[in-house]
Amino acid sequence: MAIISFSNMTAKRLKSMSGSAIRNLLKQAGKKNFIALSGGYPDPACFPVSIIEELRRKIKTKYGNDIFQYGKTEGLTDLLDILPSFLKRSNRRVVATPDTIAITCGSQQALTIIALMFINPGDLIAVESPTYLGALQAFNAFQPRYVEILTDKDGMIPGSLENIIKKYPAIKFIYAIPTFQNPTGRVIPLRRRIEIAKIIVKYNKLLVEDDPYSEVRYEGDHLPSICSLAPANTIHLFTFSKTLVPDVRVGGMVASEEIKNTAVLIKQGLDLFTSNYNQALVSEYLRGDYLEGHLKKIIKIYRPRKTCMFESIKKYFPDIFEVTNSQGGMFVWVSQLTDAKKYKLNIEELVEKTLAKNVGFVPGFPFYANQKNALFSMRLNFTNQSEESIEKGIEIIGSAIHKLLK
Ligand SMILES: Cc1ncc(COP(=O)(O)O)c(C=O)c1O
Repeated sequence: MAIISFSNMTAKRLKSMSGSAIRNLLKQAGKKNFIALSGGYPDPACFPVSIIEELRRKIKTKYGNDIFQYGKTEGLTDLLDILPSFLKRSNRRVVATPDTIAITCGSQQALTIIALMFINPGDLIAVESPTYLGALQAFNAFQPRYVEILTDKDGMIPGSLENIIKKYPAIKFIYAIPTFQNPTGRVIPLRRRIEIAKIIVKYNKLLVEDDPYSEVRYEGDHLPSICSLAPANTIHLFTFSKTLVPDVRVGGMVASEEIKNTAVLIKQGLDLFTSNYNQALVSEYLRGDYLEGHLKKIIKIYRPRKTCMFESIKKYFPDIFEVTNSQGGMFVWVSQLTDAKKYKLNIEELVEKTLAKNVGFVPGFPFYANQKNALFSMRLNFTNQSEESIEKGIEIIGSAIHKLLK
């Protein structure tokens, strides 16, 4: 059969979409004895399988076969009713009612819905530098222009945000991950959160607060979300990918009723509704008070892995990097100190050298909206490897860096 290509007919928007550098790297991760420090994956050994079995029995008794019917686009009523108490926990302090929540297929779908709602080609949106690659992918399909907000070890710098808003008053929204950011693992401290909240209120700007990680805190006290400080100016995203299992694909947004209703309209056209069964799993998970116990369990496993990664980097990497000692989440970010720029390092060369030794990490540049601003940097995940593998992996990357420096 002749092969016909339709590539000359595809939409212009495809030009601004590129595959994820991470997904490409993850293809390697299935290899035997491969130490993957690349993905943002929880450890499957941490999946609460016996809890899920219990939840399944509860769903069968409570809903019978009705659960397999088409569902409401807004979300399953039982889940919408229990979510306000989850959102009120001290790591978010978000005030919501069932009418201000829209359920989505993971928070990733919420990002696409927000992009569909707000971005016309050429529109300006402001993002942290660096930011979550998956958000850039979701937004890119709608051809925005990006303005990058400067960050330091405490995340987004409020002064930079204010300057950007003054310089580009037309920006449609600001996208931020204030707690245990992907890729840097950084947390915006309370004082900055208050400043950021004041700025978005003062200039009447919309901030999309993406928060998949705040429940997973290893050290320090929980901080209020920006949504709790400036609710009318924020769309707040949540997900159960990290606190139950990613496969459940249940996340959502808290927003004004107006934005929520528009999100529901958009979601109708995308996929009608999120799996009722999976929403019932989350609803019963929250109703049965399983969350607290599960969090304790995973925090106990992940905390020493984070410490091991941080200590190993200090031990095996040359002294020319800044490293985040993340208080939660899944990532450690390593970036070359500006006063160590005389050491010319090529990140692609490093990726190749470590892949050849069966270790994977993600280079930092895809996380920058404007990649020319990228520093020599890497994102390292510590949740899905044992401490022994983490130390070995970091030793291998460290030794490859030392060789490149020679
Ligand atoms: C910052 C951030 N936002 C959104 C997502 C998407 O997660 P999900 O669609 O599984 O909720 C991720 C995934 O790792 C993430 O790190």
